[in-house]
Amino acid sequence: MRNLIDILDFSTKEIDELVAVAKDIIANPEKYREKCRYKKLATLFFEPSTRTRLSFEAAMMELGGNVIGFSEASSSSAAKGESVADTAMMISAYADIMAMRHPKEGAPLAAALKGTIPVINAGDGGHHHPTQTLTDLLTINIEKGRFDNLTIGLCGDLKFGRTVHSLIAAMSRYENVKFILISPEELRLPEYVKEEYLVGKEFKETTSLEEAMPELDVLYMTRIQRERFASAQEYMRLKDSYILTLDKLHDAKKDLCIMHPLPRVNEISVDVDEDSRACYFKQAKNGKYIRMALILNLLEDADNPVEEGLVDFDKVRYDLVCENPTCITSTEQEIKHMFKLTDKGVWRCVYCEVKE
Ligand code: NCD
Repeated sequence: MRNLIDILDFSTKEIDELVAVAKDIIANPEKYREKCRYKKLATLFFEPSTRTRLSFEAAMMELGGNVIGFSEASSSSAAKGESVADTAMMISAYADIMAMRHPKEGAPLAAALKGTIPVINAGDGGHHHPTQTLTDLLTINIEKGRFDNLTIGLCGDLKFGRTVHSLIAAMSRYENVKFILISPEELRLPEYVKEEYLVGKEFKETTSLEEAMPELDVLYMTRIQRERFASAQEYMRLKDSYILTLDKLHDAKKDLCIMHPLPRVNEISVDVDEDSRACYFKQAKNGKYIRMALILNLLEDADNPVEEGLVDFDKVRYDLVCENPTCITSTEQEIKHMFKLTDKGVWRCVYCEVKE
């Protein structure tokens, strides 16, 4: 059985296969209409969502399957104090696969370690969002025809924007990809993302979108993540840091691909929507097809008793304590703190990747 907790759980070859299946679904939807008959997807959303949850639900329905779940923590037993691990055990008795979004980093991993059905991380705190990345990759593949030889500008809230973290992890595996990280000083990319994925890669950090614009093949705009700010004042000060308008596209390439995971607040002005380079609504639509491909893939392997190594228990330390207040270990006492040694030689919490 396998799960999708981190985008790197899938190799580049497996991502190519998912992209190929998604394209086949787009071309031949009728072939897939009965594939998940009698199967159930549980969508466990402890945090608000429109696209992610509804695209998962639409994906399962278009595969002929059914959907159960909840869309806010207050309508689940979490409101009574139930742990993520217990919820995962319960849901494993009712559904065949689950997609979980949670405000705490590492919650879907905690669910996967306890549950007995495949778990899909649908966004954990400010950490990762691998299915948004699959959506982004399908869009890049359709719009640009390749994953290598690209200059990608990521603009906005690079600190809390989980979609950015997963996209960088994914794109760092392709040849000759250059990253331009555009953000206010206060919202720069976290160190762990730089250390784990960008060492030895071509990247630069800047505060100027205008300066970066002419080089870009892909521009990935993001929302300033209001809900993750400790201070409302700080959010107010930074919320309008970048607003993409038609004027600012003057020096952009003619075949630039403008993406945004959505929802947008005001970081892309609506007049850009008519520009042929605007891809964000197409991107949202692609999310349904790639999630169909993912559900099929995970369900195919679900009966396989061999668990894909979520955590290499022989290589973790139990003597370190994660002090990150947004990590799932901070609220769920029964979760054992575990640290793993990464390829870069650093001990990181297995749940949130914060350093020892
Ligand atoms: C993103 C998310 O939830 O992280 N939205 C999405 O899933 N499409 C981006 C965001 O909320 O800004």
